[in-house]
Amino acid sequence: MAEVRGHEGRAHEPGQVQLQEQGQVQEQGHGSELEQAHRQEHEPAQKQELGRVVTVAHRGAAGYAPENTMAAFRLALDMNADMVELDVQLSKDGELVVIHDDTVDRTTDGTGRVADLTLAELRKLDAGCRFQEGGRYAGEAIPLLTEVLELCRGKAGVLIELKWPELHQGLEQALAEQLQASGMCGPEHHIIVQSFDEESVKRFRSLLPEIPVGLLVEDESELTAEKLTETAAFADYVNPYLGFASKSLVEAVHAAGLRIFCWTVRTREAVQPLLDAGVDGIITDNPDYIAES
Ligand code: G3P
Ligand code: CA
Repeated sequence: MAEVRGHEGRAHEPGQVQLQEQGQVQEQGHGSELEQAHRQEHEPAQKQELGRVVTVAHRGAAGYAPENTMAAFRLALDMNADMVELDVQLSKDGELVVIHDDTVDRTTDGTGRVADLTLAELRKLDAGCRFQEGGRYAGEAIPLLTEVLELCRGKAGVLIELKWPELHQGLEQALAEQLQASGMCGPEHHIIVQSFDEESVKRFRSLLPEIPVGLLVEDESELTAEKLTETAAFADYVNPYLGFASKSLVEAVHAAGLRIFCWTVRTREAVQPLLDAGVDGIITDNPDYIAES
């Protein structure tokens, strides 16, 4: 699926809760020293604390249950994943829902663009019926972000991807408000927000600077030492495609003051090279592959 890049988004709607004012995103960069110190205090459980790599269950344990469903997230917790990864978008009526594609066609029994469907319309869809055969997961709904946050509260961290921000005006604002309303911005909840869209990452950072943020990278040219220094000015993580991982990249990432989670492990063979490279986290459809390595 081709990803649309490079949009700037629009000004966000006024929030229900007190958030940082926008408009200083580019200039603000990584923020003041005080903000940086605050974020460091609030960073999620890290490899160094765990004494091992951080296991992040991609779209839940998507190798074993339908991606981005409560069944997949529950399974990820059962498999002792340190974090779950999910994709968040806005319904037509502005609710934060958990689904990867910009349409519902691939993962549900419906059709249409997520942004064109109301929450009520999305919730009628079956997000489990297309997973494998046998219908074991039929009837799984598209989750609300709040449902996943509540499931993970006290049990696992959550790596939240701002998905298709160019299609969802106000996505960052809505997420920042919901995280604040959930009371899960503290370090014990291990929340990280990431996106492929640099401007989206910066917008979110400007709204809720205490939450660590990451830039997803699918183009190796974004991983030069110069680019890493630029990324470190507004993010805490750089999270590239696993094929780019190497010891020297990890050293460069760490030298720039960033951490690195790589995606997406779907084979057992893919694990050891990432461990050898020294990455901080592994994002995987199969959390058991990491535990067994
Ligand atoms: O978290 C990394 C990974 O989710 C990025 O790719 O397409 O699975 O959202 P994608
Ligand atoms: Ca994702």
